[in-house]
Amino acid sequence: MLEKIKETADYIRGRMHTHPEHAIILGTGLGALVEHISDKTELDYKDIPNFPVSTVEGHSGKLMFGKLGGKDVMAMQGRFHYYEGYSMQQVTFPVRVMRELGIKTLFVSNASGGVNPGFRLGDLMVITDHLNLFPDHPLRGRNIPYGDRFPDMSEAYSRRLADLAFSVGRAKGINLRKGVYVGVQGPTFETPAEYKMYRLMGGDVVGMSTVPEVIVARHCGMEVFGISVITDLWAEGKTSEVSHEEVQKVANASQETMSEIVKELVRIS
Ligand code: HPA
Repeated sequence: MLEKIKETADYIRGRMHTHPEHAIILGTGLGALVEHISDKTELDYKDIPNFPVSTVEGHSGKLMFGKLGGKDVMAMQGRFHYYEGYSMQQVTFPVRVMRELGIKTLFVSNASGGVNPGFRLGDLMVITDHLNLFPDHPLRGRNIPYGDRFPDMSEAYSRRLADLAFSVGRAKGINLRKGVYVGVQGPTFETPAEYKMYRLMGGDVVGMSTVPEVIVARHCGMEVFGISVITDLWAEGKTSEVSHEEVQKVANASQETMSEIVKELVRIS
């Protein structure tokens, strides 16, 4: 595993013209951030040795290098989800490669379903903590010596970066929520009883990504910031359908705002 990570990092390093310490995983809701990255060079995932092969036809995903908010950044356009059939090692492989490339801070975004009754569609939530409900764990197996066998998770999401994000939000007049992200495998959206259970467990939103990447990033010693766009809402006693199209539509409407926050956060962090 470690050999593969190093091999991939060597390949990428040979094609990098910058030395980024900030990386961004552009999940749903952050696609528009790509437009803000200047002096870009791109690598197709399909050309990168050992990178997982995309399950979506004609959509391989790209690794990007460039400048954002005056800083060198590395960005992943397209992530690997557990529900697609990848192992946890594959889902989190790019994060370990980032560690080899010198990344110190990771920004992640996603779309999620709101179970906090105070939330509204299109709200942006700074992730302050998570519940890991995936059926497999990315650190299961022999410990890779990037971090401890039993890593501390008392501050999976950096308080420093979250506080900075709130100050950015205040300065820009953007009302940011905060809360706990429940990570589940999907690909089904939740039944009403499941949404209710996640609320009772202490969650504010539920989604199908992010948690494995964040666990591995923390094991690698990175500081992590996570932000989520709320694309559908559960409410007690109300049955409403959720579709991928609707999730995409709501996420798209909030893209610019989310991009603004992350860009400014990269600049000042
Ligand atoms: N559940 C799980 N994942 C999601 C949801 C949801 O309601 N919305 C967007 N991603």
